[in-house]
Amino acid sequence: MGGAVRTHVRHPASDGEAEIATVSPSPAVRRGRFLALEGGEGAGKSTQAERLADDLRRLGHEVVVTREPGATTVGAALRQLLLDPDAQLTDRTEALLYAADRAEHVARVVRPALEHGAVVITDRYVDSSVAYQGYGRGLDPAIVLQLSRWATGDLVPDLTVLLDLPVADGLARARARGRLAGAPTDRIEAETRAFFERIRAGFRQLHDTAPERYALIDAAADPDEVAAAVRHAVQQVLAGDGEVLSA
Ligand code: TYD
Repeated sequence: MGGAVRTHVRHPASDGEAEIATVSPSPAVRRGRFLALEGGEGAGKSTQAERLADDLRRLGHEVVVTREPGATTVGAALRQLLLDPDAQLTDRTEALLYAADRAEHVARVVRPALEHGAVVITDRYVDSSVAYQGYGRGLDPAIVLQLSRWATGDLVPDLTVLLDLPVADGLARARARGRLAGAPTDRIEAETRAFFERIRAGFRQLHDTAPERYALIDAAADPDEVAAAVRHAVQQVLAGDGEVLSA
């Protein structure tokens, strides 16, 4: 995290290289902590996000729980489009719209809350795009990541909790809560089992490439056990020792 750096860019209307901006590529000063919950369908992210928030509030933290897509006014419109079963979106359009939702989310919700000193818990973030649009849809995961890095100004979570469970179990849970009953409820949920298997493998791949930034948690366990594992991993990060153990 360096300070402001001088950036040279070529101005399209001039022949020479012109210095047009002094920008900081790193996030503005952050006082809070940023936690992301990731996983496939039916992994229990929303429940665990709320439980974690309750635990942290009891410990005296200011906590903001948020989610993607749809946490802002523009995001709500994007969410409707993204999940509309009748919307015809190319894979690249879909990736761009998730990135646009994320840009709004970070600028209007996440960064202000972090600057205020809050613990921000987001239900899905960059890894969802890499897993779903990259590994799932078949777009280049490196480009999908780059797009989100640009959209967020390189805001990376202090910890990503990956709730992992077999696809069949996740889909069964999602069905049990009525979301996959009968006709598919949204564009993404309408996808094939193979799509969700690629996503699960993609999330695990992301974990394997940088395990120190993740807590990989078995989401098939009892919800109380999952909550305890999440709490344990998060407490280590909040304590500032930076070492995150996979549970
Ligand atoms: P939502 O109803 O919020 O589902 P969930 O409870 O599983 O989070 O719908 C969000 C859907 O959007 C979900 O199927 C995952 C998908 N998604 C992407 O494909 N890419 C992304 O970047 C994000 C944030 C979500």
